[in-house]
Amino acid sequence: MGETKKQKQLHLAGFIFSGRATQAWRHPEIDAHQSLDVDYYIEYAQLAEKAKFDTLFLADGASLHLEDVEKHYWSISTFEPVTLFSAIAARTKHIGLVYTASVTDNEPTHVARQLASLDHISHGRAGWNVVTTPGPGTDNLGISKQETFDSAAKYKRARSFLNIVRALCDSFEEDALVRDKKTGIYADLSKIHPLHVDDGLYKIDSPLRIERPPQGHPVIAQAGTSPEGVAFGGSSADLIYCANYSIKDGQETFRKLKAAAVAAGRKPEHLVILTGVAVIWGPTQEVAERRLKELTELWPIEAAVQNLGIDFGAANLDDPFPDHYDIGGIRSSGRAAAIASFARDNKLTIRQTAERCSIGLGHRPLVGTTQSIADDLQAWLEAEATDGFAVIQPRLIDGLRDFTEHIVPELVRRGLFRTEYEGKTLRENLGIPKPENIYSRKKVAS
Ligand SMILES: Cc1cc2nc3c(=O)[nH]c(=O)nc-3n(C[C@H](O)[C@H](O)[C@H](O)COP(=O)(O)O)c2cc1C
Repeated sequence: MGETKKQKQLHLAGFIFSGRATQAWRHPEIDAHQSLDVDYYIEYAQLAEKAKFDTLFLADGASLHLEDVEKHYWSISTFEPVTLFSAIAARTKHIGLVYTASVTDNEPTHVARQLASLDHISHGRAGWNVVTTPGPGTDNLGISKQETFDSAAKYKRARSFLNIVRALCDSFEEDALVRDKKTGIYADLSKIHPLHVDDGLYKIDSPLRIERPPQGHPVIAQAGTSPEGVAFGGSSADLIYCANYSIKDGQETFRKLKAAAVAAGRKPEHLVILTGVAVIWGPTQEVAERRLKELTELWPIEAAVQNLGIDFGAANLDDPFPDHYDIGGIRSSGRAAAIASFARDNKLTIRQTAERCSIGLGHRPLVGTTQSIADDLQAWLEAEATDGFAVIQPRLIDGLRDFTEHIVPELVRRGLFRTEYEGKTLRENLGIPKPENIYSRKKVAS
């Protein structure tokens, strides 16, 4: 009798809005104050947790771009991620809390301390999306603009930063705090390790002021797409968040990243790839399309076209998507090519492409019914184009409600999604082992 192959299951992240662009606040059924309403985020998190999503994912950038103010984005006034996630952690039990912090806007000690604190507060659910920030970044830390455009320099900083954060998390061995009331000995000094780094970028001479996080190292996510970004993510990340518009492109990203993980001596299943997808559900295709239209109509078309990051020159917006175009400024050529092939595959005009893509923060829009959406997600999983999805809800919490009430039960029925959390920590739910403390490991080896 042939052995039955275990059905591979999807991992799901709920993209919790904060750091990026949306015009959904103009929708008559959406409360325009939600971007700064902690109860709204808690309700969103609890709903995603009830449906057994692996994690929340919070995109972010520290600077306020005046261009975003001019576009009237909802997210120009919003919470700092760790503060928000600490509030959510106290009101949830299982769901992961992955937030974004850039290596050009922060110092490693601050990130390590916040991340370790969030991991303790949430009992092992914290994750950090390590970004290098595209383009000029902020002036917060006096990092030169030159460096923020230079991929090799950006990822040299990212590697150094991440290595320091991980080593700082290991400052305390698991049994470093004795807390012996009789002898008065609180800590075993031999088990607390100052880190010494002086690599031209960072100078560190102290241990972190907090015990090792429950996950050892909180989950590390990454979202870079340059060759340096892929090498960094493949060798160093636990979770990759990426944007692809076709199964073919997804398969290529999947192969590249898993190969980079294997080349770094890792098991490919210890690198979980999540692809962004912006879902609009309806009981019929017609209703779903109407809901899409209600949202796209809220976007000034100029802002939607500008968001594609593509320069169409003198082309008419109602022309078919052109074969030749320029990419604007710092935007990514890979992303432009993906959008172009999505537009051509679906025979869209420039206007239709801009409208569809405006709602997904740069991710593939998926507009359909329970069956068609579940078929699509299943096809990507089975084609090895992804391990799961970062699900963006253009209709915000109403969209999440649709997704959890209609699509999740269908995915469960197909054996593609869990009915219970497998473990207690985010690492356990993602199937990624807890790393050993470098100092305990050295002792065993010597
Ligand atoms: C799907 C996706 C999501 C991203 N989210 C963020 C974000 O929230 N904040 C940010 O500063 N950069 C974000 N980025 C930018 C990257 O993480 C990365 O720092 C940037 O693209 C430069 O790296 P690269 O040249 O390797 O692409 C995102 C990129 C992708 C592909």
